[in-house]
Amino acid sequence: MQLVPVADTQLAVLQQGEGPPVLLVHGFPLDHSMWKYQIEHLARTHRVIAPDLRGLGQSPVAGSPVTMERFADDLALLLEALGVQQPVLYLGLSMGGYIAWEMLRRHRQRLRGLVLCDTKAQADTPEAAQARRQMAETILRQGMQPLEQAMRQKLWAPHSTTRRDEDLEHVQQVIARTNPRGAAAALLGMAQRADATELLPRIDLPVLVVCGEQDVLSPPEQMEAMARAIPGAHFALIPQAGHMAPLENPAEVNARLDRFVQSLDN
Ligand code: MLT
Repeated sequence: MQLVPVADTQLAVLQQGEGPPVLLVHGFPLDHSMWKYQIEHLARTHRVIAPDLRGLGQSPVAGSPVTMERFADDLALLLEALGVQQPVLYLGLSMGGYIAWEMLRRHRQRLRGLVLCDTKAQADTPEAAQARRQMAETILRQGMQPLEQAMRQKLWAPHSTTRRDEDLEHVQQVIARTNPRGAAAALLGMAQRADATELLPRIDLPVLVVCGEQDVLSPPEQMEAMARAIPGAHFALIPQAGHMAPLENPAEVNARLDRFVQSLDN
């Protein structure tokens, strides 16, 4: 990983491969390593850029709350710092999808296409926002364990024959190692994020929507409706997978990605 100065901080970023640029934006409270199978696969034909977002993974904590706008501005500055001139194919999972809405609003010229994995367009309900604020307080007091436990219940398909146990344990360790201040800052940022539903019919980019069949955080019915609201979007339902579809069923996700990437090139 390389540390790149961005705004008032630095972002840790993994770069691999050569070719058209692909930006991989992880979920919460994770890091770039959740994309390990896509990094390997896409780097054969693309320049893969996989950062850790501000305050998460190996990127230092800087400020709180960290809004989705701030994360998006960081990514645009990162692309500039790395000398990326071509628009990127943006892959975002969950919070990475929330940040995609702000990339569309603020940095549309940076984007060539979008892959939205296990995410949603709606803002938090007042109750969900309050629960996030409470969780932020809890982890600042007690450390990451309560959040690590909560995510263990929600991220994964109850049954998957394609997932490796070591991948599940790795992600749970990433969560446990996260700086509570970084996680709390992102929780407070997500709690105040804008609704993006009105944006969907106006998206003028190629879009692939990917959803784990057993995702309880962004369920298939909701994601399919989101895909229907985006002109021309493709929808891929991934078997044997929950919220972490790219890691739980990489063969299927990568096959759908290949088809999408080919359609971009034609
Ligand atoms: C994520 O995976 O990024 C989180 O589930 C997002 C969220 O808490 O809404």
